[in-house]
Amino acid sequence: MKPILSALLLPAVAALMAPPCSAAEEADSVDLAAFANAEGKSGLQLAWRADENSPWQKLNSGNIVSSDFGPWGSHKKMFDPLLQHNADGSWTATWIADPKDPVLATVSSPDLMKWGAQSYRMTDSRRRPTVEFDFDGERFTGSVVRVPASLISTLRAHYAARGAEYRRNSELMKDDPTRFAGLESPVYTVRAIPAAEKPISDKLIGIFFEDINYSADGGLYAELVQNRDFEYAPSDRGNDRNWNPMTAWSVDGSGDTKTEIRTSEPVHANNPHYMSLDVRRKGASVVNSGYDGISLAAGEDYDFSMFVRSPKKGKFAVAVVDTLGNAVASATVKFKGAKDWQKVSASLRAKASCSGARLVITPENTGSFDIDMVSLFPRDTFKGRKNGLRRDLAQTLADLHPRFVRFPGGCVAHGDGIDNIYDWKGSIGPLESRKPLRNLWGYHQSRGLGYHEYFLFCEDIGAEPLPVLAAGVPCQNSGTAAHHSCNAVTTRGQQDGIPMSEMPAYIQDVLDLIEYANGDPATSVWAAKRAEAGHPEPFNLKYIGIGNEDMITEVFVPRFKMIFDAVREKYPDISVVGTVGPFYEGTDYDLGWKLAREENIPMVDEHYYVAPGWLINNQNYYDSYPRGGTKVYLGEYASHRPDRKSTMETALTEALYLTAVERNGDVVAMTSYAPLLAKDRHTQWRPDLIYFDNDRVNRTTDYYVQKMYGNNSGQHYIPAETALSTGGDKARVRVGSSIVRDEATGDYIVKLANLLPVEVKTDADLSAISGLNSGSSRTIPGEILSGEPDSETTVPAAATATLTPSGHLTITLPPYSFAVFRLK
Ligand code: AHR
Repeated sequence: MKPILSALLLPAVAALMAPPCSAAEEADSVDLAAFANAEGKSGLQLAWRADENSPWQKLNSGNIVSSDFGPWGSHKKMFDPLLQHNADGSWTATWIADPKDPVLATVSSPDLMKWGAQSYRMTDSRRRPTVEFDFDGERFTGSVVRVPASLISTLRAHYAARGAEYRRNSELMKDDPTRFAGLESPVYTVRAIPAAEKPISDKLIGIFFEDINYSADGGLYAELVQNRDFEYAPSDRGNDRNWNPMTAWSVDGSGDTKTEIRTSEPVHANNPHYMSLDVRRKGASVVNSGYDGISLAAGEDYDFSMFVRSPKKGKFAVAVVDTLGNAVASATVKFKGAKDWQKVSASLRAKASCSGARLVITPENTGSFDIDMVSLFPRDTFKGRKNGLRRDLAQTLADLHPRFVRFPGGCVAHGDGIDNIYDWKGSIGPLESRKPLRNLWGYHQSRGLGYHEYFLFCEDIGAEPLPVLAAGVPCQNSGTAAHHSCNAVTTRGQQDGIPMSEMPAYIQDVLDLIEYANGDPATSVWAAKRAEAGHPEPFNLKYIGIGNEDMITEVFVPRFKMIFDAVREKYPDISVVGTVGPFYEGTDYDLGWKLAREENIPMVDEHYYVAPGWLINNQNYYDSYPRGGTKVYLGEYASHRPDRKSTMETALTEALYLTAVERNGDVVAMTSYAPLLAKDRHTQWRPDLIYFDNDRVNRTTDYYVQKMYGNNSGQHYIPAETALSTGGDKARVRVGSSIVRDEATGDYIVKLANLLPVEVKTDADLSAISGLNSGSSRTIPGEILSGEPDSETTVPAAATATLTPSGHLTITLPPYSFAVFRLK
């Protein structure tokens, strides 16, 4: 931006200036302006000038701090900032975060580079004693202080370094032809040092499951009927009136049938809406269009069920009708005349496969009928579980061999406002009694896939359950009023958290979850509910997450501590996983880690979605983490290209980074790529690990990286000395390796990543590892991913390496490849 300044100094500006300096100091001091644009979208900007007669010069190109109040993105605003220099040398910035219902935000900084926690409170007026500036025709408001000139040099150096770091981390493989022009195939040597072997986590690769992108309803949860409980509501998605109890439902055919959504005397109070039919002349049907239609597989059985209330007995014909109007499966259900609701069911066998079909329910009698909880469920679910999971999708997850499953989010766990926090109790018990919940990603959670089903899935795939519960605060991006909301602060952002008077009940809910998972049904009410649900044995819960990338503020900290202390006191064997914000650095990261160390939290959840170049250039990220004390759960991460595609570039950078994570597997205990699943045409977030529709599962190359790690993990890391013969630092960071030992099999597993555009001749000297070498040359089978950085379709292929008689594993890695070899 060209700094054309016309500072319209309002009278109040004098009050904002620091006290006059002595003549000598004045020579060494300059004006520092801190300001934000009139739309509130610029964040805090800084400019400086030597004196009134000099032009202003901007200090930074982005912002030095931005407002974190209110819903995502452009809703987070900063108006009329005031920057004050405190007597102790620190700085305080205040601004109006919400001009309509004025909220005053405050944040402090020791040096204008690091910033503390933001706090928000209602203020009487948004009038601020600010100065107005015009830069390049844009209007800004802010304040001016006199500061030592040396501060400007310090800040400039700081922002220049940040800029350089940003540029380095933004490197993309499309520029490799220039970046690596003339590079000859280097030789990569690895010398294993088994004497330095160290134990690493046996839970390094897990999965993160969140109901985002229709991952649960319409996805992993095998139910085929959409809006089966008639509980969709406009408020699920921004008061969209087309999203309501009749969504996915219609009335079709001749006859005279009126339908109405009613709420009096429902099946269950948690499930208040149902459909009432008044059939005056037969011939019409009630139709459900499923989630993008219904798919059936020829010869498979499907269980239909429904709650009916009718004063007289009767029958419904039930059919799945394909796009040509043919009934692919059909049955008849009969019901008695009764005042109360009754559950009817039938089994349907598909005569043919279909997709895009509809469920058609046709009353065979005239009269009045109420219907609710209309369900069509494949019998062929994962592990044959009733109310279970879509077999192909669940198997795709199981194939990753994840050591843990984190659920139910992500943001879904702490919700859009405190009334939207995922209350686990509302997700268990008979389906008709579960509490549907608005999904903050703009749709609806039936919660047919609830906590009990998550626990069962973990058990079925041999993974540890890792439920994440809100830390008494909702998502920091909240924007929906809750029961306690009375102003902007209690409506948006962290909403002031769950009121302290309600925290004891909330903490009890957290403790009850541990009882539900692990308690004795004979003595525990919640464990008895688990037994009622068919699982008297405990689920052996060992971990519980408290908080999800929350802001570490005066609202969060006391609530987190209350929950943490209660869990630690009652269940000292449960490992609590805390949270350190949504980035790999910054205020929440710093404060979250400070809290973790002060409170001795067993583990914290780090999140970072980063550019591919970040993963290449930050492989040493964990090398300097203190060993001992709090461990890391890298709970959400992914390589994000600007086009958000899942390609070899994203997959390879993740593979390379994971070699460094394995090296640090003594401090990083768990990792999970995020998000996991995305339904085509219903995707709120990209990239994801697995895309699917009703009939297909599309695994990304990133998925195969996870699978190669999940199926080739070890519990011991073998350090190695490595060298690349040519190409310098920029090539060296593109080649990585890791050697682990799997205790159960005694196998040594070698992973090799080549992110260069040329072949890399690899020579891994494993001679110091005893028992590997039989004295003759051996061919070692393995798996390899190899393809152009832009490829979106690369899948693993078989590969071989040679183990020489002298114990060297040799292979020429193709350009852009990742390989795994298991030495038995
Ligand atoms: O993974 C998608 C979202 O990213 C999660 O819900 C949230 O925790 C993070 O911001």
